Amino acid sequence: MPKKPLITAIALGTAALSGTGQAQAADLTISCGAVGAELTLCEEGVAQWEEQTGHEVDIVSTPNSSTERLSLYQQILSANSSDIDVLQIDVVWPGLLANHLLDLNETLGEDAAEGHFSAIVENNTVDGRLVAMPWFTDAGVLYYRKDLLEEYGHEPPETWQELTEIAREIQAAEREAGNDRMWGYVFQGRAYEGLTCNALEWVASYGGGTIVDGEGNLTINNEQAAAALDLAATWIGDITPEGALNYTEEEARGLFQSGNAVFMRNWPYAWSLAQSEESEVRDQVGVVKLPHGPDGESAATLGGWNLAVSKYSENRELAADLVAFLTGEAEQKRRAIEGSYNPTLESLYEDEEVLAAVPFFGTLYDTFANAVARPSAVTGESYGRVSNAFFDTTHGVLSGDTPAADALAQLEGQLRRLERRWK
Ligand code: GLC
Repeated sequence: MPKKPLITAIALGTAALSGTGQAQAADLTISCGAVGAELTLCEEGVAQWEEQTGHEVDIVSTPNSSTERLSLYQQILSANSSDIDVLQIDVVWPGLLANHLLDLNETLGEDAAEGHFSAIVENNTVDGRLVAMPWFTDAGVLYYRKDLLEEYGHEPPETWQELTEIAREIQAAEREAGNDRMWGYVFQGRAYEGLTCNALEWVASYGGGTIVDGEGNLTINNEQAAAALDLAATWIGDITPEGALNYTEEEARGLFQSGNAVFMRNWPYAWSLAQSEESEVRDQVGVVKLPHGPDGESAATLGGWNLAVSKYSENRELAADLVAFLTGEAEQKRRAIEGSYNPTLESLYEDEEVLAAVPFFGTLYDTFANAVARPSAVTGESYGRVSNAFFDTTHGVLSGDTPAADALAQLEGQLRRLERRWK
């Protein structure tokens, strides 16, 4: 049956979808991301499946920002459109999108997700239905310039305060020495999902909780959370460029990889690119866990992406087969080695080739295993609003609009009005 073009998305003004195949001939359409090497790796995996099965797949790339990807998907799915069969979905979306997705246990069998981290399988199981297969997991880590820290006699920082001081010192010295584009610290400061991830790490590592706790109680309005955000606000214009208020993952990586930042917060994917031949900082990069607040412990936000099949697909079985192939061991291993995407299959963390390519998959195993989840499961369909309110508030504090204590009190009021939706 001929496929309908991607009119839904385009008519709705979200022309960010761009096909890389022949829209009319394909048997399936998959949307897979655009950050770093994501799209290329997806294309290569899909090409292997096409060769094995003789089927044709169209690939559509989606916007870099998770927040923009979500609104695009919501538009397509709420129109019950069959335009996309297989969707790459964020770890915080199962509760938001479950109604539009197939139960993969039905098509792929009860043991479909065996061997994958059970916390992710649980996360992807909504009302007893496995709505997505784990593809890769993520956790925030700290990248640092080994050469610069050594030159200035520093170990990687343990606390955010230390990071601030070391960053300031090296930035000043390097500028003095002639690199006037040098910055101390870059991260994801745009008002989008990535800022929620960064700010959750600051807050949780100050002992300030996770916005909403496991029982659904609002916890964000507390002193530790305010102290964490106030410190972060001092970075802007000092050790972090003002422009970072508009950075996603890729802008931060661009600056770090061109040699103009001492520290960067990012996800593991940035490793393989920082180590690539095009990188100015190849072999000069170290990766450690993120710093913590005065009385807290390091916290890494749990991220990651999964593959789901749309309920509106006209080719469900085939779509599920593609998902099984892409999330299978061989593909996860290839993506780990080539793109430093964290496998969701536990056994691959003992694979020597994987560990040789990405040594911190071994040294930071605990960071990945204990990453802090955003409150998406507990807030369910309201997660998008909760996160939006949190990143907008944080963005306001970083921009210097409001001191954190006032901003968090206002945020609490806003979330209070939503609370009955999940409590
Ligand atoms: C990464 C994470 C994802 C998160 C996003 C925010 O892609 O894997 O979970 O939502 O970053 O920018």
